[in-house]
Amino acid sequence: MASGSWEEFFAVHLPPTDFEDNRSLLKEFCERHDHYGNKIVLVTSGGTTVPLEHNTVRFVDNFSAGTRGSASAEYFLEQGYAVIFMHRQKSLEPFTRHFSGQKMMDMLDIQERGPNTTITVKPDSVDVLAPILLRYKAAHGAGAVLYVTFTTVSDYLWLLRAACECLARCGPRAMLYLAAAVSDFHIPKDKVPTHKMQSESGPPVIQLHLVPKMLKPLVNLWVPAAYVVSFKLETDESLLIPKARAALDKYKHKMVVANMLQSRHHRVILVTPEASQEILLTREEVHAGVDIESAIVSEIARLHAEHARAPR
Ligand code: PMT
Repeated sequence: MASGSWEEFFAVHLPPTDFEDNRSLLKEFCERHDHYGNKIVLVTSGGTTVPLEHNTVRFVDNFSAGTRGSASAEYFLEQGYAVIFMHRQKSLEPFTRHFSGQKMMDMLDIQERGPNTTITVKPDSVDVLAPILLRYKAAHGAGAVLYVTFTTVSDYLWLLRAACECLARCGPRAMLYLAAAVSDFHIPKDKVPTHKMQSESGPPVIQLHLVPKMLKPLVNLWVPAAYVVSFKLETDESLLIPKARAALDKYKHKMVVANMLQSRHHRVILVTPEASQEILLTREEVHAGVDIESAIVSEIARLHAEHARAPR
């Protein structure tokens, strides 16, 4: 087992405490949708943490709020997919993302009548809430969506592998849409102190190590027939397409969705081995609240359908 390899990672790092429960949920979900011949997508969403202590008080985190993943999950449901929404605990979720912050409170009215107090949705908010609530009820009523959560990068990787093991049976009908911002660096388990670091000990020197890239075993071993889409985020435009192409060359998967930190909500480039295609929202679309994920998902679903139909 090579040092720093993915095999070593799983040998050294323990699974999260809710791992077996999540594995059973994933297994049941994939078996059911495979039985009906449904297309199925794993959407990963939000950032991972890197704990600095085992009894964690402090951790390294990243910016991702789960906007991309939670919006995409809704559009995959609209496209008829069964969706595994694997997300960072407390990050944005499909449907409720529309009401984050104070928005939900502002939609409600209260009539205080002692024990007969009633809460109602304001008439002008019904038009906003009703279509989202209907889609939520339809997705959940049909058992078309499964939520599983992670917090640390280690939790994420354990859950990712378990999801892949369950998805493998779905062959080319499975898609992986890896939008989570996964930490590239971590502190190996044996180097993490047990208790809260004390300031009396002086400023800590923390050395981060590379997290092994999971795309390689994922594409080659875990889900070789699936349609795998990874994401690439950069802050230097000149690196964006070269790095997306380098990832495709290295891992041999189907697509990289390339985006810049500053413009990620209105511009992405879908990079495949054959081509690249920009998706750009107009200023009017941005003001109207159009989600770029609608266009991303519809194009990827089209390419996935071609992949699933291709003779093997
Ligand atoms: O959540 P939002 O605020 O809406 O932001 C969305 C987003 C910008 C996070 C999203 O669009 C995005 O770009 N996500 C990927 C961020 C990124 O650049 O990841 P990366 O370069 O660390 O990894 C590239 C790919 O390798 C990822 O698809 C990841 O699944 C994979 N990876 C990463 C680490 C690791 N150890 N193994 C992996 O296989």
